[in-house]
Amino acid sequence: MFDKYEKGILISSILVMMLFIFSLVYSLDKKGRNITECIPFNKTYQKGRVEKIDDSTYQVFMVAKMWAFEPDKIYIPVGSTVDFFLTSLDVVHGFNIAPKNVNLMAVFGGVGKSTVKFDNPGVYKIVCHEYCGVGHQFMQGEVIVNYPENK
Ligand code: CUA
Repeated sequence: MFDKYEKGILISSILVMMLFIFSLVYSLDKKGRNITECIPFNKTYQKGRVEKIDDSTYQVFMVAKMWAFEPDKIYIPVGSTVDFFLTSLDVVHGFNIAPKNVNLMAVFGGVGKSTVKFDNPGVYKIVCHEYCGVGHQFMQGEVIVNYPENK
C-alpha cells in the first residue's frame, strides 16, 4: 500500500515529531518553573495587588492597562519566589522580565501565570513588549529585590 519513499517520509516525520516532543519535555526544568499556566476564566480580577504568603513567597496580581502596569513597583527580599498572575483591562499587552526569562501576554478576561525566584538583589525591569498603542513605550515596571536587611 505504501511505496518505499512514502514509508521513508512517514518514518522520518515521526522521528522529527518525537525529537520535537522530547526537546519540549527536556526544556522544562524539574519544577516546571517559568511555564505559563492557564487560570480558569472566573478567577480573573480588576485590581493589581501584591500578597505576601510568607517571608520568601509572594503573589503578584498584575493588571496591564493602557499604558501602565499595576502595581508598577514590587519590593521583595532576596531569595523570594514570586507567582506572577497577569491580566489585562483592555487590549493585549506584553509582560517581559528579560533577565528572568519571563514572557507573558496579558489578555482581557484571561489570566497568565509564571513563577520566578529572585536569588540576586537588583532592579528587574518589567516591560510591555506587545505594541498596545501610543503609550506603549512608556509601559513598564520594576521588581526591586532588596537585601533582606533593607526590606
Ligand atoms: Cu502595553 Cu505595549
